[in-house]
Amino acid sequence: MYGLVNKAIQDLITTNYGEDKWMKIKEKSKIDIDYFISTEPYDDSVTYQLAIAAAQELNISVDEVLYSFGEWWVLKTSLQKYGGLMKAGGSTVKEFLTNLPSFHDRIMLIYPKLTPPEFKIDEKGENCLIVHYFSKREGLVAFMKGLLSGIGKMYETPVEIEHVFGKSSGEEHEAFKVSW
Ligand code: HEM
Repeated sequence: MYGLVNKAIQDLITTNYGEDKWMKIKEKSKIDIDYFISTEPYDDSVTYQLAIAAAQELNISVDEVLYSFGEWWVLKTSLQKYGGLMKAGGSTVKEFLTNLPSFHDRIMLIYPKLTPPEFKIDEKGENCLIVHYFSKREGLVAFMKGLLSGIGKMYETPVEIEHVFGKSSGEEHEAFKVSW
């Protein structure tokens, strides 16, 4: 994944737990990289190793790390660095999620080597929809839940997120019911 992602994990940890904790996590992850360059792609294993080391050092589960990172990615990284793009996504949770399938098309103009997620949306009335998430990567269900929660917080609209089905139940992709 692009360095932007690893840098955002670093930001989340240093802001919430301090620089020392970050140094310990980086040491534990055994990653031999001094600093991340946003626009450079890194092996996915770097991101996973950071998440695992953070979970061990903070004494929480990897899913908890990924969930917090999902919220952080929307509310801090995306809004601060790409506020214009985020605002263009819509003015309500429903609009933003309805536009999500084409969101990373625009990101690919900035990060051409992106391996983006794919989304399909099923409308289920005024206050609910299903987000279908297709990924070449594994283990990012909790990250998705955090992202969806972050999108709710971005619009000050509390959302309920239910993981309806996924690879763990033999399906080929993940589906989330989002209600507000
Ligand atoms: C301006 C805001 C955003 C930027 C710059 C951005 C950029 C990225 C980047 C760089 C990656 C790593 C993939 C790679 O390097 O190959 C990624 C992955 C991902 N993004 Fe975004 N993204 C943004 C917003 C969002 C939003 C709002 C969602 C909401 C659902 C989202 C969902 C994901 C998911 C689920 C992945 C994991 C990729 C996978 O499953 O393979 N992103 N994005």
